[in-house]
Amino acid sequence: GIADKYDAPVRIAVIGGTGLKSLPGFTHVANLNVETPWGKPSSPISILHHASPSTGHPIPIAFLSRHGLHHEIAPHEVPARANIAALRSIGVRTIIAFSAVGSLQEEVRPRDFVVPDQVFDRTKGVRPWTFFEGGMVGHVGFADPFDSTLSKIVAKSGHALEGDGITLHDKGMIICMEGPQFSTRAESNIYRSWGGTVINMSVLPEAKLAREAEIAYQMICMATDYDCWHSTEDVNVEMVMGHMKANSENARRLVGAVLDELSNERHSDLVQAKHLEGSMKFAGSMT
Ligand code: ADE
Repeated sequence: GIADKYDAPVRIAVIGGTGLKSLPGFTHVANLNVETPWGKPSSPISILHHASPSTGHPIPIAFLSRHGLHHEIAPHEVPARANIAALRSIGVRTIIAFSAVGSLQEEVRPRDFVVPDQVFDRTKGVRPWTFFEGGMVGHVGFADPFDSTLSKIVAKSGHALEGDGITLHDKGMIICMEGPQFSTRAESNIYRSWGGTVINMSVLPEAKLAREAEIAYQMICMATDYDCWHSTEDVNVEMVMGHMKANSENARRLVGAVLDELSNERHSDLVQAKHLEGSMKFAGSMT
């Protein structure tokens, strides 16, 4: 049976987005129902065992479905603070976050993967976006919103699968919009003129909260549409779901390759995020 606790710390997590509600092919060992001061996460956290390719030892991986087990949580309703706090509480220091995105550039075709290196915030300031409030004054740098060491590992693992039906772009600017409605054509064209590569509704505040929690974070995007700027059909939900479904095998292969690499002994300092310890700076506290 599946246990409801797991005793050892779990360092690596995958957050699945639209179309990636589970990670088959791994041994499912536990389901954790975690409560946090910010409420319950989007779903129970599944603990999966992955055999390290270098040692053969099982490495635990946490999996969390951002939109719930039945895709019942809209992007603006995702309990991002509970998700990040719950993962942190079981030991997670490295997150690979998956997301369906619209493409803002011709060369990023539907079903291509993008490992963005920049974010532009177009959310409306209505989502809770920090752990620090009520007397705790913390400021953390966010000039480079993703972890550069992690991004190199993801890009390398992805490029190794090229020629095998996977195309990966290893940088780009992701625009994060509020949603749940898609963009107007005017907005879509403005985002292109700003140099936007792809657009979604999920990278923020997740990436900011991971940074505050001293967790190394990288998003892997999968393009599902050309938004509405392109001469092809305007984005709709069927299009997003259809491409996600058709390409889910590639998404799983890519995540598997990244986990293979992260499970290697030589990355043990990275997955424990030793380089981020103490990066959170406090200006003051009432406590
Ligand atoms: N997610 C997938 N496609 C999208 C789009 N065109 N705009 C915003 N979020 C998306």
